[in-house]
Amino acid sequence: MATLFRGLLLLFTLSDSFGRICSLGVGINYGQIANNLPSPSRVAYLLRSLNISRVKLYDADPNVLTAFANSEVEFVIGLGNEYLENMTDPVKAQTWIQQHVQPYISLTKITCITVGNEVLTGNDTQLMSYLFPAMQTVYEAINNLGLSKEVYVTTAHSIGILGNSFPPSAGTFRPDLAEYIQPIINFHSQTNSPFLINAYPFFAYKDNPGQVSLEYVLFQPNPGTMDPITNLKYDNMLYAQIDAVYSAIKAMGHTDVQVKISETGWPSKGDLNEVGATPQNAKLYNSNLLSRLQQNEGTPAKPSVPVDIYVFALFNENLKPGPASERNYGLYYPDGTPVYDIGLRGFLPRMAYSASWKKELSFFGDFSGSQIEAFIHYHSIHQLGYIAYRYKNLVDDVDCVWCRYWWASSGRVVWDGDRVG
Ligand SMILES: *[C@@H]1O[C@H](CO)[C@@H](O)[C@H](O)[C@H]1NC(C)=O
Ligand SMILES: *[C@@H]1O[C@H](CO)[C@@H](O)[C@H](O)[C@H]1NC(C)=O
Ligand SMILES: *[C@@H]1O[C@H](CO)[C@@H](O)[C@H](O)[C@H]1NC(C)=O
Repeated sequence: MATLFRGLLLLFTLSDSFGRICSLGVGINYGQIANNLPSPSRVAYLLRSLNISRVKLYDADPNVLTAFANSEVEFVIGLGNEYLENMTDPVKAQTWIQQHVQPYISLTKITCITVGNEVLTGNDTQLMSYLFPAMQTVYEAINNLGLSKEVYVTTAHSIGILGNSFPPSAGTFRPDLAEYIQPIINFHSQTNSPFLINAYPFFAYKDNPGQVSLEYVLFQPNPGTMDPITNLKYDNMLYAQIDAVYSAIKAMGHTDVQVKISETGWPSKGDLNEVGATPQNAKLYNSNLLSRLQQNEGTPAKPSVPVDIYVFALFNENLKPGPASERNYGLYYPDGTPVYDIGLRGFLPRMAYSASWKKELSFFGDFSGSQIEAFIHYHSIHQLGYIAYRYKNLVDDVDCVWCRYWWASSGRVVWDGDRVG
């Protein structure tokens, strides 16, 4: 072995409950509006070590889809709003699916495509008018290519599409949006696809900290609120919002469309006027949410339908425009350290390599040999020359080395790393 570079391993500790949580299927949003994020293959390992097996992207980044080939991770991929107009053209929709979905789907699980994000709460009425036709055309392209059994087509809405959200049983959509939403609901019913909502109780609290109970939005013990029509008690705002969406869908004639939360989260930092954006509150929101999901519970109005959520977000994203909170929703800093401790245990491997492609990675932590083996197996599609993995098993205090030859099929460097010492 030639010059050895020592990789640095980041590890975080705590409860072993997360495996159970994740086996219930919490998802995470993997946003990439940043210039300092780790490479997708390292993120693949981070997520694997966290047992996170559902990921939502805002695009169809081929680097990410390739890095997660042969993994257990299921992807929601996104067609950005800028594509909507073109996606109303069947030829362009089919071409997009052929270029961005078909090449990857045999190795990477793609289960859902979101066509546009929060289109109906923007103020571009032209874009709004493209939304349903684009969804339908993308669905037809998926269907023509024989993929409609494995890939759902949907879009993600802001909770701002509700005109009335309380009491939950009286939830309705904004009347001015009904003409856009009705065909979308009918489409979900026909294609058995979910209705996705981005919901942030943080915004309700921030806008009205004097009126909205912090305990109620953070899933902390609180007296809750009563729906006077159904007599159902709500002890948190998120569940009330989900049930309000179910009511709004029912008011449009459907009880057969599932509501899922495509984004929710809490920022750990914000501008001075962004009341409540603190690490303490973010930690409470996300950890309480995860333990509620662990109960596999439904909402008061849909007790038998487990709440289905994608947390926003995996990383802080330093290039997101807008108020400071926008750049501080991440559970992790780009270097893999947790922004606050919510009992998620995982690690982001760091790697270094010499000019001759010889590499060594040192794992320092209580990782078993089988975990390291899983890591090597997991990345066996990226063969990049000779790699030696050395790790110290702190439980047994044993030094171990794992070696493997890799070869580059694309010439793309999929692993990066820091030289330490
Ligand atoms: C991941 O899940 C597996 C089985 O579901 C479990 O044995 C393991 O402890 C979990 N790992 C973490 C980091 O939670
Ligand atoms: C839409 O289609 C036109 C014509 O094919 C193309 O020039 C344009 O780049 C497409 N827009 C996007 C966002 O892909
Ligand atoms: C609405 O339009 C105005 C002016 O065109 C723009 O400044 C504003 O950002 C838009 N709002 C949204 C939510 O897109």
